[in-house]
Amino acid sequence: MRTEKISRIEEAEWLAKRLVSIEKNEIIHLVAEVDGRVVAGGEVAKRKGHMSHVGTLGIAVKNGYRRIGIATKLIETLIREANRQGLKLIILDVYENNHPARALYRKLGFKEVGKVPKAVFWKGKYVGEIRMALEIEFQCSRGKIVSRCKRTLLMS
Ligand SMILES: CC(C)(COP(=O)(O)OP(=O)(O)OC[C@H]1O[C@@H](n2cnc3c(N)ncnc32)[C@H](O)[C@@H]1OP(=O)(O)O)[C@@H](O)C(=O)NCCC(=O)NCCS
Repeated sequence: MRTEKISRIEEAEWLAKRLVSIEKNEIIHLVAEVDGRVVAGGEVAKRKGHMSHVGTLGIAVKNGYRRIGIATKLIETLIREANRQGLKLIILDVYENNHPARALYRKLGFKEVGKVPKAVFWKGKYVGEIRMALEIEFQCSRGKIVSRCKRTLLMS
């Protein structure tokens, strides 16, 4: 993770690369807009080769727009789309002290499957990183998507 401020040029380069990856269908990327302003973004980056059934999830919601369900909606939609594109497993890494994100992922059915201690040096101390995973396998029933493990949140 970068700690220094990102310049406008770097941001433009990042965006250009992102757009190419989306065009090539390497990434499923969504944004949430409020009054025409982008306030959140989420993505599932598809792995390759023997891991082409796996996607890595990332999500961020702008301060001031949190705790109103935006991340939940984005992740639910990303999971549906990942499932539609044949992915079977969504994984992510989260800092162990990021309790909002851990609570969010747990609520959506992700399981904590391991921890790397002292994975990052963040604000003057070592912080562990938790790997979380969600198996996705859905079947259609009367036009609705229903997961085999009956995760009702996906039925809206
Ligand atoms: C983590 C983050 C994406 C949550 O986004 P959000 O839109 O606020 O999440 P939602 O409103 O969908 O919240 C869903 C659930 O997550 C949990 N949650 C979210 N924020 C929380 C907080 N500050 N404290 C405790 N639980 C929280 C709750 O269980 C919540 O359900 P509830 O509101 O019914 O209690 C947002 O705080 C964020 O962008 N953080 C900075 C970036 C980040 O940490 N990204 C993840 C990196 S791995």
